[in-house]
Amino acid sequence: MNIDLTRRKLLLAGVTGSALALCSLPARTMAQLTPTPAQSSGPFYPLQLPQDDDNDLVSFDGSNTPAKGEITHLTGQVVDVDGLPVANARVEIWQCDANGRYRHPWDENSAALDPNFQGHGSYQCSEDGRYRFRTIRPVAYPGRTPHIHFAISGPGFEPLVTQMYVSGEPLNDKDFILNNVHPELRQNVLVDLVKTQRPDEWSGHFRIVLAADGSLQKR
Ligand SMILES: [Fe+2]
Repeated sequence: MNIDLTRRKLLLAGVTGSALALCSLPARTMAQLTPTPAQSSGPFYPLQLPQDDDNDLVSFDGSNTPAKGEITHLTGQVVDVDGLPVANARVEIWQCDANGRYRHPWDENSAALDPNFQGHGSYQCSEDGRYRFRTIRPVAYPGRTPHIHFAISGPGFEPLVTQMYVSGEPLNDKDFILNNVHPELRQNVLVDLVKTQRPDEWSGHFRIVLAADGSLQKR
């Protein structure tokens, strides 16, 4: 999008410079999507990626015992601001296990580490930008509402690090990172998890919008 052009149109329509300054979001045309807001990567991105780093975090290193937690089928699509797929995007996720513990040496949580939870997974999208993960429903840990960390990259686009949250979680209102997202964009990082036909399994869809290289994406 040509942001300068949009700004000029607003000025021609009588919106003053000071009024523009009050808007913390870049102006976009009606048809365009707002890039998914960037958020902190946090301290627990793996120091070393697991050898088993596929998109099934519930099954780890060939163990026959599944990870603890409620299985969650997470799907989504990586798109640009026009809603078109970002071909060949790469999506990474990482999160704590069902005990609230990250597979990371800096996590001081005394909870036992679930040896069967992969903790990090990745997915290489094809032309359609779609991805899928089998993981666990995220849980809260001290100081944070349930969330899943995401890192996304695509050729020709700004790499994005963000976090996904679950709609309706009671701690969402108190989470300092979620509440640091602009109120108008908060909905863009919240996902409805719905029960599947299998008992205690969930599914959700998280669309990720990437900005083209050089665009305004950071909050
Ligand atoms: Fe986290």
